Amino acid sequence: MARNLKHFIKKHLLLLGIIVALLIITTASITLYTLHQNQVITSNNLATQANTKATDALITKIKQAKAAAEALKAKQTTPVTAPTVVQTTKTTPVISCNTSTAHNDPSSIDVLVNKKHCLQPLSFVPSDLVSVDGATLSAKASASFDLMYKAAAAAGQPFGVSSSYRSYTTQVTTYNYWVSVSGQAGADTYSARAGYSEHQTGLAVDLQAGSCELSCFVGTTQYTWLQDHSTDYGFIQRYPTGSQSITGYETEEWHYRYVGLAVAQDMKARGITTLEEYWGIDGGDY
Ligand code: DAL
Ligand code: ZN
Ligand code: ZN
Repeated sequence: MARNLKHFIKKHLLLLGIIVALLIITTASITLYTLHQNQVITSNNLATQANTKATDALITKIKQAKAAAEALKAKQTTPVTAPTVVQTTKTTPVISCNTSTAHNDPSSIDVLVNKKHCLQPLSFVPSDLVSVDGATLSAKASASFDLMYKAAAAAGQPFGVSSSYRSYTTQVTTYNYWVSVSGQAGADTYSARAGYSEHQTGLAVDLQAGSCELSCFVGTTQYTWLQDHSTDYGFIQRYPTGSQSITGYETEEWHYRYVGLAVAQDMKARGITTLEEYWGIDGGDY
């Protein structure tokens, strides 16, 4: 039997060798193929992961761009809204002692202050007060006042300042003094109650010639000069003769109000002597 096997192996050695070799080659091929496939799957997975990451990044970018666009839209909307709010604030009466929906901004040279139009707020203080030629005035009026002051002096008609900016508190004292002199009804014909005086805007000034002030002033050459020239500098005599039913006050030849060059010259050209008539706003008594 062993001899037969030996003989068989000897006889078929080549064939067996070939079979073994084929087996080895097949096994190796299968192994290599499997390895390759695994590698392909791995790289596919990596590619998928990379794609997912890229997609996430893209979505984030789109979200960011959308948010940025919305923020920009919100920003662009803001300036359109803001002026509307400011406008509303300026034209809406907020306190009952002012019946006007216009000319009620005490920081504006267009403000109208009379017995029916108090300051808003009553305790208003100008933010731009400056000292000029013995006066305290709003910077909106000070440069023009300085020009008028110097022009009058150069023309030989120098005037002085008896009163200019008066605070709410000062006006309380001033008005109460005149009430003690003339009684309330009498004082109301020539002195404003606190919160109702143009002097509180920093746009009004009372002038004098030497020591000649108030009712003395009308007879001076300084007054004559101002009648001819104050509008050249944007100032008007605020309480002209014969207008008490309109302005609420007796004549004051010494009280000048800055309204700006355009308004002052236009009033003069059209022969309109009171701000109430010029702007069509009511005045008279409280
Ligand atoms: N004399 C003016 C009216 C004032 O007191 O403001
Ligand atoms: Zn006065
Ligand atoms: Zn005055």
